[in-house]
Amino acid sequence: MIQLKSERELEKMREAGRHVAEILLLLREMALPGVTTGELNEAAAHELGARKLESSFLGYSPGGAPAYPAVLCTSVNEEIVHGIPGDRVLVEGDLLKLDFGVIFSGFHGDSAVAFPIGEAPEPVLGLQEATLRSLYAGVEQMVPGNRLGDVSNAVQTAVEGAGFTIVRDFVGHGIGRSMHEPPQVPNFGRGGRGPRLRPGMVLAIEPMVNMGTAEVEVLDDGWTAVTADGECSCHFEHTVAITQKGPQILTQVAGSH
Ligand code: MF3
Ligand code: CO
Repeated sequence: MIQLKSERELEKMREAGRHVAEILLLLREMALPGVTTGELNEAAAHELGARKLESSFLGYSPGGAPAYPAVLCTSVNEEIVHGIPGDRVLVEGDLLKLDFGVIFSGFHGDSAVAFPIGEAPEPVLGLQEATLRSLYAGVEQMVPGNRLGDVSNAVQTAVEGAGFTIVRDFVGHGIGRSMHEPPQVPNFGRGGRGPRLRPGMVLAIEPMVNMGTAEVEVLDDGWTAVTADGECSCHFEHTVAITQKGPQILTQVAGSH
């Protein structure tokens, strides 16, 4: 069952989303060559405390996976998603993906951003741009009356049209009182299929896009998903409410992706 959110609930989700967006901007400014991914996680944890928010991620343990040990996911280069922050030092040319979620007043916000550390080579910037464009192609379809397959198909078409591949092992999701609610939001599929979109639905859409093979491997830490061929991967995510007036991106403030 897809939960429809009331206007009062959407108010809370807007506030959750605003915090996510503000904190991601702050982390992005910090992410310079020489900084470790663990330091970014500490800064994120500090912000959660200062704003009296809870982490969506810390301790999360879906279906027997080990409890996620951080408040932030930091995935570098061939790491697709769910990279665990630690001692890794960021270097010029890395493509860093930050994925972050908070709970405000019982409601989750979830967003991810990708950016190069310093200057990155052109193919990496092309991948970054195509991934962000595919996210927006999907968001554009989030209007009442469309079907979920219209969203999925728009993402897939944008990615494949740019010559990149879509990761199929992970999907977006409904979001609200839980971080992951029905429906699943795949980044591939056929238009005109799936549940009809209605005002009050809130979806986290998150294309994961690879330079080479779409095939994924998960490291021994039980979390870090990497490309099977070691080529670069990119990921953007927004939490989006479907309204009478069209899509409203909840995890966006001035300066955000
Ligand atoms: N934002 C991700 C998602 O949508 C991250 C969740 S995994 C976690 O699924 F362990 F970090 F929580
Ligand atoms: Co998500």
